Amino acid sequence: MLTIKDRLAIALDLPNEHEAIKLVDRLGDTCQWFKVGMELYYATGNSIIQQLRDRGFSVFLDLKLHDIPNTVAGAVRSVAAIGAEFLTVHAAGGPAMLEAAAEAASSVPNAPQLLAVTVLTSMDQLELAAIGIDHSPENQVLRLANTASAAGINGFVASAEEAASLRHRFPAAALVIPGIRPAGSAIADQKRIASPAAALAAGASFLVVGRPITQAPDPAAATRAILEEMRSATALST
Ligand code: C5P
Repeated sequence: MLTIKDRLAIALDLPNEHEAIKLVDRLGDTCQWFKVGMELYYATGNSIIQQLRDRGFSVFLDLKLHDIPNTVAGAVRSVAAIGAEFLTVHAAGGPAMLEAAAEAASSVPNAPQLLAVTVLTSMDQLELAAIGIDHSPENQVLRLANTASAAGINGFVASAEEAASLRHRFPAAALVIPGIRPAGSAIADQKRIASPAAALAAGASFLVVGRPITQAPDPAAATRAILEEMRSATALST
């Protein structure tokens, strides 16, 4: 049984290892998971992953791989050894790419669980239309999740707005939900957002929170408040 702390990943979207470790140390033991994305990984490489693991944290490597099947399979093999628990690939890369990624992950020991990114939470219907997709975000998310599932990937990244439909269609999937905004926090570039409680009520397995924690005057207090909201929401739903 997962604890509430196991269901929150803090997005370390910071420019270098010094800033990242400073924040990690300020957060202390308030959290268990850190998400390392492109900004930090491209600046530090595997060093930040090792440092987080040495401190006992779980790591979610959010590289959103999207390339031809052979290249993505190679990337999955290259990062498999570094000990991240989750690794993201873009479902929009298509069935062959997703199958190659899944096959690569199953061919190496201790590979991370793959998560398929569906429609970015920063995109709305207008943004989708601008890249030639005339479905609603929800239809597009479901379509991409079906594609990823058929390729053997049973974890999806989507917004809270699609979580209930995804949970209905994929009862056992890991549903990872960014675009989380506690009441009163700045929305910034995100479009499809929800509060921590609403995302859990809709069926989220894991929440990803970045700036509402990393830019808070007291990041540990912001984390504790989010965990408290998550705890109340799950108590209500059980
Ligand atoms: O700061 P904020 O809470 O908006 O950060 C959200 C994090 O989740 C970012 O690191 C972003 O890269 C990631 N993410 C997202 N939407 C997705 C997939 C990942 O916002 N669909």
